[in-house]
Amino acid sequence: MTKPRIFVTRPIPQEGLEILKGCCHVEVSDHDGVIPRSLLLQRVKDVDGLLTLLTDMIDKEVIHAAGKKLRVISNYAVGYNNIDVAEATKRGIMITNTPGVLTETTADLAWVLLMSIARRIVEGDKLVRAGKFRGWEPMLLLGTDIYESTLGLIGFGRIGQAMARRAKGFNLKVLYYDKNPISPIIEKELGVSRANFDEILRKSDFISIHVPLNEETFHLIGQKEMSIMKKDSYLINTARGPIVDEKALVKALKDGLIRGAALDVFENEPEIEKELMSLDNIVMVPHIGSASYRTRTKMAIMAANNLLSALKGERPEFLVNPEVLGKN
Ligand code: NAP
Ligand code: GLV
Ligand code: GLV
Repeated sequence: MTKPRIFVTRPIPQEGLEILKGCCHVEVSDHDGVIPRSLLLQRVKDVDGLLTLLTDMIDKEVIHAAGKKLRVISNYAVGYNNIDVAEATKRGIMITNTPGVLTETTADLAWVLLMSIARRIVEGDKLVRAGKFRGWEPMLLLGTDIYESTLGLIGFGRIGQAMARRAKGFNLKVLYYDKNPISPIIEKELGVSRANFDEILRKSDFISIHVPLNEETFHLIGQKEMSIMKKDSYLINTARGPIVDEKALVKALKDGLIRGAALDVFENEPEIEKELMSLDNIVMVPHIGSASYRTRTKMAIMAANNLLSALKGERPEFLVNPEVLGKN
């Protein structure tokens, strides 16, 4: 029997590729960077499985270009807003993702960002490197206390809850907003209270976003929302860029509607609103939420196993569109 053909859109940790090579004919893009659209459209032709990244837009055109053999798209990420799920489902193609293994790593980064912006770490580092440290000063780089402040979590799934667990050490008051309430037992255990969206905006000193990007969450935080937020509050985004209206954020930071922001994700990655570059009250990192050696390796293994299960005709452990199963 001929081995199934798999295309991987960019090198991922070797541990994942080895699993795939065990039973498939694996081609890995050797393009330096995100695979260009035209090349992607060529390389997907006649494959049985695709291993994709969040930087690949897997829309109708790509799915169509792959052809009838395509059975599975395994995304090397937990978020799958880069994939046209409805189109894939219509064609009986399974979509899988990598939840859970990156939860703690991403929550760690959200906390790093929160603390960095609150205590002006990047500004301090720049000042020291510029040779401007003149010794301790009573009014040098005053920031905001994290201890006993109020943290508002927008989205209270895996990563949102991991944020709350970390908040205990800071004696924070934690409010969460999510479509679904969690059980009172877990609320008590985590020491959190459910709040409506407006309350989160009005009461939080720090707001951290942990919802997926979908039609409902696009521009969830815009000018109106930032004008409701406290003037001395901060916005942290490690979810997806388009959840925050980036132009409105520039204005809010310049006009002092909020005190600061810290972002791992941007509305049009890798493009960034030019004006953000010149502001001091923002910390920006290049979408590194899950970027630890250990987690990226676990994601590679998980993405490979998801893909192989689907090709074997089994139900992959992390299937995004279970409704596809009846179609095969
Ligand atoms: P999750 O466990 O699915 O949590 C998301 C939560 O948000 C769920 O409880 C979900 O409810 C809720 N939700 C969905 N739409 C909502 C809405 N319109 N209003 C209120 N709540 C809503 O996902 P996760 O593993 O925590 O990951 C969250 C997101 O983080 C991912 O989708 C991804 O985009 C992002 N992420 C980024 C990085 C990074 O590198 N920066 C790394 C990992 C993840 P339902 O379950 O009912 O839909
Ligand atoms: C990263 O952004 C992910 O969704 O895994
Ligand atoms: C600061 O270094 C202090 O001793 O208060």
